[in-house]
Amino acid sequence: MTRFDRQRLRVAVLLLGFLHGVTASRCAGNACSPPVGNLASGRTLHTQSLCCSNSSLMADDPFLHPDTWWESGVTAAGEDEIHLDLEDRFCLTHVVMVFRSPRPAAMTLERSQDFGRTWETLKVFAENCSSAFGLPDDVSQQEALCTSRYSSAMPCTGGEVIFRSIAQGRGMDDPYSPEALSILTLTNLRVRLLKPHRCPASPFTSSRGQRNTPQQAPNIRFLPKVPRQPSRNSTSSDSAPYAILSLLAQGTCLCHGHAEQCLPTGGQNSLQSSGSVQVRGRCVCTHHTAGVHCEKCAPLYNDRPWRAANGSSGEPNPCQKCECHGHAQNCHFSQRVWSSTGGTSGGVCDDCQHNTEGRKCQRCRPGYRRHPGRPLASPQACTRCWCDPVGSVPVRNSGEAGWCHPRSGQCHCKPGVGGTICSHCLPGHWGFGLEGCRPCTCPLTCDPVTGHCLESKPNREFYNIPLGGKIPDLTHLHPHEENKSWSNELTVSALYDTGKCTCKERKVKSVSDLCRMKHSYVIKASVLSAHDKGTHAVVQVKVRKVLRSGVMLLSQGTHSLYPLSWTSRGCTCPVLNPGSEYLLAGSEETESGRLLVTMQSLVVPWTSTLSFLVSEALRRGCL
Ligand SMILES: *[C@@H]1O[C@H](CO)[C@@H](O)[C@H](O)[C@H]1NC(C)=O
Ligand SMILES: *[C@@H]1O[C@H](CO)[C@@H](O)[C@H](O)[C@H]1NC(C)=O
Ligand SMILES: *[C@@H]1O[C@H](CO)[C@@H](O)[C@H](O)[C@H]1NC(C)=O
Ligand SMILES: *[C@@H]1O[C@H](CO)[C@@H](O)[C@H](O)[C@H]1NC(C)=O
Ligand SMILES: *[C@@H]1O[C@H](CO)[C@@H](O)[C@H](O)[C@H]1NC(C)=O
Repeated sequence: MTRFDRQRLRVAVLLLGFLHGVTASRCAGNACSPPVGNLASGRTLHTQSLCCSNSSLMADDPFLHPDTWWESGVTAAGEDEIHLDLEDRFCLTHVVMVFRSPRPAAMTLERSQDFGRTWETLKVFAENCSSAFGLPDDVSQQEALCTSRYSSAMPCTGGEVIFRSIAQGRGMDDPYSPEALSILTLTNLRVRLLKPHRCPASPFTSSRGQRNTPQQAPNIRFLPKVPRQPSRNSTSSDSAPYAILSLLAQGTCLCHGHAEQCLPTGGQNSLQSSGSVQVRGRCVCTHHTAGVHCEKCAPLYNDRPWRAANGSSGEPNPCQKCECHGHAQNCHFSQRVWSSTGGTSGGVCDDCQHNTEGRKCQRCRPGYRRHPGRPLASPQACTRCWCDPVGSVPVRNSGEAGWCHPRSGQCHCKPGVGGTICSHCLPGHWGFGLEGCRPCTCPLTCDPVTGHCLESKPNREFYNIPLGGKIPDLTHLHPHEENKSWSNELTVSALYDTGKCTCKERKVKSVSDLCRMKHSYVIKASVLSAHDKGTHAVVQVKVRKVLRSGVMLLSQGTHSLYPLSWTSRGCTCPVLNPGSEYLLAGSEETESGRLLVTMQSLVVPWTSTLSFLVSEALRRGCL
């Protein structure tokens, strides 16, 4: 590869990196920080002495402009102040001041975290801490507030004053931890220059002696106009009590480890908008966070509590998206939900659209039902209920088209009425009308319109086993039955046995157990689904065999069971699991024609042993 090729490759890689920068940033999968810079540059530094010199000269780039400085005017008390007022909260890592004059004999560095309402001293600088401030010196006492390291008169020019927010030796693993933030953040910085030094070895000592005479002030005022003059000989400048070549307030915007870029606070979005060096305050948040400081989660990402990134492990701790199935723009965090899910998910969708409701907009709102052919995320997933106005129970608040089960679309039928929309009489009932349907009072069945007894069996094939009859292949009668997939969506989760339901189950040990049964119906059936109807539960079963039926004539096909026992945990007892096959025996409610499941009912999972016992019982004719 030639050198030229290599260069081209490098350019290509750089370009790729640039293009990638938008998506695959350093923040991807990691804690990240915006670049650090001088918080003072590009901002106005307010000083007490307003004459004489442009304060921004001390915050310009010392490499580009090494010979520019700010110098104070002469004040009566020999004091001056420099304020840096930030428009937002920032993190300050360290301060370095390079003096052109001798360093002050006494000065303080203070910060405010509340836009100047209250102030806190970060560090006190004095040649003699005890005489100047009555404080111990950190030279002799570690971590003391005052230090004498940066206050001697020598060198006369170029002396530095250094402050580090996080003192060396004091371990601070994670810059995003609350402890670190309490140390690092500020909205204002104030340097109070309290006592000037005179330069002991300066050739200008004599002129220094006059520096407090007010007559000198007019001279000083001329100085800023010639800042680039090789100043070493400028007598008037040397009479200023304080002169600062450079003030570096190194810091970064406050983003809790969730951003690597910052924009002007409240300003335009363009990164190039003003100058180049200013450290801006509004974070460009990643990890699904939001806010000026990425201090909260983005609107649809409140499934977990917000957390700062972990600066020591690098974990980004991103916000987690709420599952709202595309029906909401916002969610909020609920501590109660968080606890109830064992600390995995706490998001509650706000303002579910498209006629949905629920924590995850996962249900159709009353009066609407799931459209069976459409995915839950479809805006048309919920369609209006339609119920037969004659056969269904009217809704209280008129104007609604009807009420139906939000999942199955099953309408609320009057007694003796069946069908999804309550459009006809149940088997064994007659007289479809505003009062519902009446039960037949016939040995077999009756005409559904007139109620007259019918001699013949109904068209539907009933499975009445003759006494002593034998049913071959009881277990393998329907080998090709379609395997229904049981999504939790379809079943009422409270009724679905998640293992927490405990019921006292009755067991069948022998044929005589079966023969002793005094139940009005005995069937073999598989449970299709369970529905929470509010006041009661309804379990849909597919009847495979009718071993005994009472007043209600039973046929093969889908029937409803009405479990009466409903535990506080929301289980039916005995447990009826959708998808499982059972031997079911129980009583019936003759008035309504309902098949009941009570604690006295027999609900036994279908096994080959049971199949054998049932065959035996049939053979003996006791079933
Ligand atoms: C101070 O200097 C800066 C840039 O160097 C300039 O923008 C600003 O207007 C000056 N201020 C005064 C009061 O001269
Ligand atoms: C500081 O001043 C006190 C009295 O004001 C004096 O006793 C002490 O020796 C001084 N310390 C130094 C290091 O000069
Ligand atoms: C300072 O330097 C300037 C030229 O750079 C010269 O004209 C002036 O006389 C000097 N002043 C003193 C006090 O040396
Ligand atoms: C950050 O990660 C470190 C190391 O994995 C861990 O000890 C510390 O507890 C974490 N901090 C927080 C706030 O979770
Ligand atoms: C039905 O599902 C069961 C278990 O999930 C499986 O063993 C069986 O093969 C399936 N039957 C058919 C017909 O797909």
